[in-house]
Amino acid sequence: MIQTDAASTSKGQKTPQTILDKKNDSALAGGGPERKEKHKKGGRLTARERLSVLLDPASFVEVDRFVSHRCTNFGMEKNKTPGDGIITGYGKINGRTVFIYSQDFTVLGGSMSRTTANKICKIMDLAAQNGAPVIGINDSGGARIQEGVEALGGYGDIFFRNTRSSGVIPQISAIMGPCAGGAVYSPSLTDFTFMVKDTSYMFVTGPEVIKTVTHEEVTKEELGGAETHNKKSGVAHFATDNDKHCMLMIRELMNFLPSNNMEDPPHIETQDHPARLIPSLNEFIPDNSKKPYDMKELIQKVVDDEFFYEVQPFYAQNIITGFARLNGHSVGIVANQPQVLAGCLNIDASRKGARFIRFCDAFNIPLVSLVDVPGFLPGTDQEWNGIITHGAKMVYAYSEATVPKITLITRKAYGGAYIVMSSKHIGSDVNLAYPNAEIAVMGAEGAVNIIFRKQINSAKDPEKERTSVIEDYEQKFNNPYVAAELGYIDEVIEPSHTRKRIIESLEMLLNKKERLPVKKHGNCPL
Ligand code: HXC
Repeated sequence: MIQTDAASTSKGQKTPQTILDKKNDSALAGGGPERKEKHKKGGRLTARERLSVLLDPASFVEVDRFVSHRCTNFGMEKNKTPGDGIITGYGKINGRTVFIYSQDFTVLGGSMSRTTANKICKIMDLAAQNGAPVIGINDSGGARIQEGVEALGGYGDIFFRNTRSSGVIPQISAIMGPCAGGAVYSPSLTDFTFMVKDTSYMFVTGPEVIKTVTHEEVTKEELGGAETHNKKSGVAHFATDNDKHCMLMIRELMNFLPSNNMEDPPHIETQDHPARLIPSLNEFIPDNSKKPYDMKELIQKVVDDEFFYEVQPFYAQNIITGFARLNGHSVGIVANQPQVLAGCLNIDASRKGARFIRFCDAFNIPLVSLVDVPGFLPGTDQEWNGIITHGAKMVYAYSEATVPKITLITRKAYGGAYIVMSSKHIGSDVNLAYPNAEIAVMGAEGAVNIIFRKQINSAKDPEKERTSVIEDYEQKFNNPYVAAELGYIDEVIEPSHTRKRIIESLEMLLNKKERLPVKKHGNCPL
């Protein structure tokens, strides 16, 4: 607030304007030049610089710039900075409003005080009420130690809002420094987590505590760096090279998303013709069904301008998830990757796929599934760690999704995995297959070993008999026509027509309305 009586306090020098200027200067200075300089070493941007890269030029409007903490413990009343180490407000990304908070590590390590939590909650409430995304830039030493439980309570208030806004507005987290202890649960409750390589880390308990409790020695980077959470744990969705790259990646992501669950995602015009044929796809899938190929290449050939925005590119690479556009419409793509584990579904792939499907469904983004799956990955590790429950997440996510769903079987669709990968039986709208598709309970060799074992073993020449029954089985089942006769496949298409047929299906489905039975919420296998 401007102190209007101040104008007369020092012989005309302190006008309301100079007081405002001084307060603004103090807020903009953050933790001061020394701390800023230390922070910027290694190419990191300050909390305000991050916003200037993320948002459209001159679009940022700051809220609560002069709010400061009320703590008096440990002489804290003398340690106040306007804004209290967090910048909050709203701005635009490609013309659309987003709400934002950015922790300033130069002020008390960006630590979370009761005051900073209140500032975040205010922004989150505004975002929810106005149907616009929230982007949180995290760079903090955690709960403000001087405040004790008051600061802890603030985290709880944020988690509560993260949960209540889930599925209503997109929530994005950028981890651009430390994020430790319970603080990690806010990003985990949001839809997408970006991390910056080498400078960000997330963990519930740090290396020192781990050493004391379990005697394990591990560095911060190994424990919770960008590589760890993008490759091993799947906690993060993107690993970016530096602060600027991180902000630009978030801008790009926003172009695929609606502002809230009542809107459709933005439509972006393209010069890429919807009926573009792709002759190279006719030769793309190897004749030998054991030979891998790169499903990502297939995706790129099909989508608008070959632009595929991959989500979790380093985690569970046997399944591919990401956004693209088809004739300008934003779609979520889920695809098996024959190059990794032969495209089998396992626990990690099921978790990754299911979460992505649920995000797309929550935000009205149609799903395109590309299937080449030999089954679920066998093994005690998978069974004992709950592939039954995790695999069920995929079934649940597809069955629950009411957005347009289009499935294309490019080669194998075997057993339970055929059902799980957006089959007609679990609610897919349009199911297509290439002429070389193999839709069966299992591969020919496994099948004949079970149903023709006696016949093979008792034959004069068992090997000849095996080859003959395998051929019979393959002729009967290794094609899409049995499923097509049953209506489980709507159409067998020439591969070169892939883009055209998927776009025609998508545009036919754009007015789809489907409602789930009234319920409080389902009980997804967690
Ligand atoms: C108050 C803090 C702080 C904190 C850092 N600072 N963390 N002030 N509360 N949590 C201050 C420092 O005193 C210092 O102030 C400045 O921020 C920079 O910190 P440095 O230690 O100099 O920086 P650096 O060497 O880069 O180390 C960063 C760090 C370290 C690894 C994050 O500061 C650290 O370990 N902080 C404590 C982390 C922690 O245990 N937090 C509580 C977690 S529990 P000056 O004035 O010197 O610049 C938690 C519970 C959440 O958060 C529960 C939610 C449910």
